[in-house]
Amino acid sequence: MKRDVLDQFLRDLASLITVLRIYPAGNEQVVRAADKAAATLAGFGRPVRIARVGQAVVVEDRTLEEPATALVALLDRLAARGREALQIDAAVRGSELAGWLAAALRGEVPGAGGLIRAGSFELEDEAETPASEAETAAGYLSLLPGVRETLSELADERQEGLSRAREIVRVIAGQVATGEKLFDPIRDLKAHDDYTFTHALNVCVLTTGMCRVLGMAEALVDTVSLAALCHDIGKEKVPTAILNKQGPLDAGETEIMNRHPAEGAAVLLRLPEKVHPLLPIVAFQHHRHADGSGYPSRPTHPGPHPASLLVAVADVFDALCTVRPYQDPRSTESAFSVMLRRAHEGRIDPLYLGAFTRLLGLLTPGDRVRLGDGRAAWVVEAGPHPPLRPVVRLENGTTLLLAREPELWLDGMEDRAA
Ligand SMILES: [Fe+2]
Ligand SMILES: [Fe+2]
Repeated sequence: MKRDVLDQFLRDLASLITVLRIYPAGNEQVVRAADKAAATLAGFGRPVRIARVGQAVVVEDRTLEEPATALVALLDRLAARGREALQIDAAVRGSELAGWLAAALRGEVPGAGGLIRAGSFELEDEAETPASEAETAAGYLSLLPGVRETLSELADERQEGLSRAREIVRVIAGQVATGEKLFDPIRDLKAHDDYTFTHALNVCVLTTGMCRVLGMAEALVDTVSLAALCHDIGKEKVPTAILNKQGPLDAGETEIMNRHPAEGAAVLLRLPEKVHPLLPIVAFQHHRHADGSGYPSRPTHPGPHPASLLVAVADVFDALCTVRPYQDPRSTESAFSVMLRRAHEGRIDPLYLGAFTRLLGLLTPGDRVRLGDGRAAWVVEAGPHPPLRPVVRLENGTTLLLAREPELWLDGMEDRAA
């Protein structure tokens, strides 16, 4: 029984590390994952020791057969700083766990004295390492006012907005390039007033990550990331009362809201300096789907530009995972399940959803999935070619290579923390 709880904690921990590699520690997804992990560990009732021994991961007195990729990445980062072992006390709070892991993923070794320690195998207390001022200054929160100003300058068709947007993209691109966690811990990012800005930033970060997974050339990564940052610029023209309305929009309000892609493209085309054509293209097309549905509708026009389809993946995910006046946030897995279904229906491009899957470390061994015919299965091997078609095992023990089963598709992924 205790071992089941411990295994659950390791899954919770891996999920938490995965979301921390994308979002800041104050993000609601992180907060939820951290609280879940802390609650599971509290149920375990005693400290957990995790160690990297050569290539193996040892938890308590047991070598893990298939340690989660995210956990291995964390341990490797600690090991690179001479800390091969990690001890987490059962009384740790979710916020403390998230903050500590965030610092560790940045390459820092947070100090001793708390409920989490990293050290040699004996776990002696280590001298405290001061937090990096520079890292703090480069934090998510410090970018947010810049995004707010940038979007309002762009909406006013002021050229400074474009230079500022380029700077933000450069900061993000630099951090994603190093594989570091992107931003420092913050709280209270849930305020609805800030949604537009946090959404722009999140979509930009996720887009940059997907571009890197796809191995795109640097200049193109910058351009597509800039297009992602500006994709909803047309919403600056939508009245706040409609943007923040509690409950569904009526027909008139929907019509105003649905003008934001065209408004955004027009704003970007009116800027004094000519922008890269991908910026207005992505702004105009990000609500159009791979199968030609969505809006603004262009029945006779060829499908959206690949950059629009790529940004749309990040856009849909962030929208599904965010607290909005009219919706509860979905978990990563639940949002991903919605996206899998949309990919099957042809509304999301599977190539870019595949890049997203790899970026977030989804569909890895042990993940429980649902096939299109309703059968449950477990992923036994990630699917690099393509990522949405991993090797799975059915409940009756049959192994299926989805890459060779064109009639089958993934219809959903269960919450890892379930
Ligand atoms: Fe939009
Ligand atoms: Fe958006």
